[in-house]
Amino acid sequence: MNYKVSKRKLFDIIFKGLPIGCFLVDKELRIISFNDTAKRITGWDEKEVIGKYCSDVLRSNLCKGQCPLKESLQLKMSFIAREATITTRFGERVPICFSSSAVFDDDGEVEAGIEIFRDMWDNKRLQTMRNRIMALFAHDIKSPVAMVGGMAKRLLDEKVGPLNEKQKEYLEIILKESKAVEVLLNNLLELLHIESGRTEKRREPTDLSTFISDVIEEIRPKAKERSIEISSSVSKAVFPVYLDRIPMRRVFINLLDNAIKYSRPNSIVSIDVEKKGEWLLIKVTDQGIGIPKEDLPYIFDYFYRGRNSKGKIHGTGIGLSSARAIVEEHGGRIWATSKEGQGTTFFIRLPYVPDP
Ligand SMILES: Nc1ncnc2c1ncn2[C@@H]1O[C@H](COP(=O)(O)OP(=O)(O)OP(=O)(O)O)[C@@H](O)[C@H]1O
Ligand SMILES: [Mg+2]
Repeated sequence: MNYKVSKRKLFDIIFKGLPIGCFLVDKELRIISFNDTAKRITGWDEKEVIGKYCSDVLRSNLCKGQCPLKESLQLKMSFIAREATITTRFGERVPICFSSSAVFDDDGEVEAGIEIFRDMWDNKRLQTMRNRIMALFAHDIKSPVAMVGGMAKRLLDEKVGPLNEKQKEYLEIILKESKAVEVLLNNLLELLHIESGRTEKRREPTDLSTFISDVIEEIRPKAKERSIEISSSVSKAVFPVYLDRIPMRRVFINLLDNAIKYSRPNSIVSIDVEKKGEWLLIKVTDQGIGIPKEDLPYIFDYFYRGRNSKGKIHGTGIGLSSARAIVEEHGGRIWATSKEGQGTTFFIRLPYVPDP
């Protein structure tokens, strides 16, 4: 059996029959193959798109800026599970999740590119429905919770008569817990708002060095309580950076809050920023308790709390999901590496856009 031929045939059968959209491009990003699911999602026939630039066919929100397929070919790397919106032949906007990669010849040279994509329409609809229900719930429960806190405060202030020590102690607990629920509800509403994509996008040229120093100053009292030192180093080459400052401030606060919370006293937390090609790479490193291997894939999920925190360290499991939503809104990615007992590093990769 000629193994090479059968491998090629096998590839063709899989390529055509894949239940996800898939197409191949040459080095100039012109389509050379287009499978049936790609046809179903985009509305274009293979014979109509062969030889066309993929940006003319997909008309995605990423085509004009940092095209991941182009980057895959230039940098000889893969991009996995990114989201975008394409425009079908009929002008309909369809959310997709895609991966792109360079294809190499036997000498290791790039000979083509491949993009695989999934129609996310149903997922998006379910996600929107879920977010609406959560937002409704959070919104409606906020007033009764504030009312409970307010009443506890009135009683504590002895507005309706004197209290004994036990009564004061219990009321203080009610007040503290109702405040914690209020913070949780506000964080949740903020996260749902970011995820809805309806937030006004205001990217302002920002001096990252000053921006980070301000954030550090804000969180320093918390770090001091635990005798933790925060240091930062921002490469001079990264001015200015275009950021939506208010939500981005929240990302740094959430990461530093975690770095402090999950560290031992007398340790160091550091922030480093450097420019790598067209990207900014931000690292927030601590020397803390680390994240168990089993938890690492889930820490960016809603309400997920690792086993290193449960019952020991206070929190709601929303800080990192909100950080991820904000970073992705900026066209970036966030991930973490960690060693239990040694520390954790969070990485943020942001597109460095010299012009807004
Ligand atoms: N720097 C860190 N070191 C160790 N574990 C961490 C660190 N950052 C996050 N984690 C783990 O990831 C989980 C999720 O973090 P996240 O910030 O979303 O929630 P949280 O800190 O538990 O609560 P909050 O909503 O108050 O931020 C944490 O519960 C913890 O297990
Ligand atoms: Mg947190």
